[in-house]
Amino acid sequence: MNINEIRKQFPVLDQQVYGKPLVYFDNAATTQKPLCVIERERNYYLHENCNIHRGVHYLSQKATEAYEHARQTVADFVHAKEAREIIFTRGTTESLNLLATAFEHLFLSTSNSQPSSPIDSSLPTSQRRNDMGEADSQLKVLVTAMEHHSNLVPWQQMVQRNGGELLVVPMDDNGVLDLEQYEKLLKESPKVVSIAHISNVLGTINPVKEMVKMAHQYDIPVVIDGAQSIAHHPIDVQDLDCDFFVFSGHKMYAPMGIGGLYGKAEWLEKLPPYQFGGEMVDTVSFEKTTFNVLPYKFEAGTPNVGAALGLETAIQFLQSLDRKAIEKHENQLLQSAIQQLSEIEGIRFIGEAEQRSGLVSFIIDGIHPYDLGTIIDKMGVAVRTGHHCAEPVMTRFGIPGTVRASFALYNTLEEVEVFVKAVKKAAMMLR
Ligand code: ALA
Repeated sequence: MNINEIRKQFPVLDQQVYGKPLVYFDNAATTQKPLCVIERERNYYLHENCNIHRGVHYLSQKATEAYEHARQTVADFVHAKEAREIIFTRGTTESLNLLATAFEHLFLSTSNSQPSSPIDSSLPTSQRRNDMGEADSQLKVLVTAMEHHSNLVPWQQMVQRNGGELLVVPMDDNGVLDLEQYEKLLKESPKVVSIAHISNVLGTINPVKEMVKMAHQYDIPVVIDGAQSIAHHPIDVQDLDCDFFVFSGHKMYAPMGIGGLYGKAEWLEKLPPYQFGGEMVDTVSFEKTTFNVLPYKFEAGTPNVGAALGLETAIQFLQSLDRKAIEKHENQLLQSAIQQLSEIEGIRFIGEAEQRSGLVSFIIDGIHPYDLGTIIDKMGVAVRTGHHCAEPVMTRFGIPGTVRASFALYNTLEEVEVFVKAVKKAAMMLR
């Protein structure tokens, strides 16, 4: 990979902050956007802007074609079987809210219907209700101890509204999930398992394929939160066999305000709509509404067409690069950062799993992460500090927050050196 050439695609990186060259290590929060993505969105508004699926005229048809082409590109990128299995959303958070709401309504409609047996073989196995005992009738959702709030709060609110319970897979001090406990919790009959592919705090890459397989042995559907994985590792939803995979465009070099939800068609057919309005309907009268087919059933209102086209271009940008080389490069940055940071007295890494992605979280004895982040910002280094929208992770490790450096394909080993020097200098100043 020629990083210098790649960096030319990202003019935002070529600037000084406080008189120092910018080192942008906050990629887990959002990545920067290459020129091709910016141009694609701009071009849409300059020459193509139109509402889609609604007009017989030229521009509307062109925009519709382009939007549906983008859906196909996303489907191919994650290796979905069909384009209708891809729903465009605003991002991971909206995708997870969609799923929590839809599953809640599915649960309520099945638990209110009579009788509870015999088995309805037209339903996915986890929805079959042949002998719903007390335990089965409770709405439980299984998450892990390392979830981002976006993969926790929607499920928590959903189970609490229904007198149910959130089951939580614990992790060890390295930030590795306890799969024995996971198996035990699966036996408590959660309706859904929803797990992070990669922790946004710890960098742990969870063994999601194995976890999906285990959950399926109990006929439980699995949602994978791919917010932190999709830009950094190739995704194959058929190989993972997950029932849902959700992600954000803005963490994968695409514009903000666009993201996706992959769902197996069988599941998306069963789930009720999330939002209501135009486009998601088939026929409407004052008495009754019938809903559109997939994927439109889940896309109420005018979508963010320009951003969807930007997402397609971001995918094409990633596909034009060697993704194995990207993984290797980001891992080199990580290893170099860990090795150099280890020299700092009193440093404690939060998250030391063997299977790691390109981010490093740490605290230094006696120094508040916020103070450290503020000082290195003045040296041009952008990192994130705080709880990273994962407060239970902070509670688990007994800390107020961490300093987190997260890498992307355009970062360099020289930048890692600048970052570590800045951390060392700040630590000396704060001690
Ligand atoms: N989820 C994003 C992060 O981890 C915002 O920073």
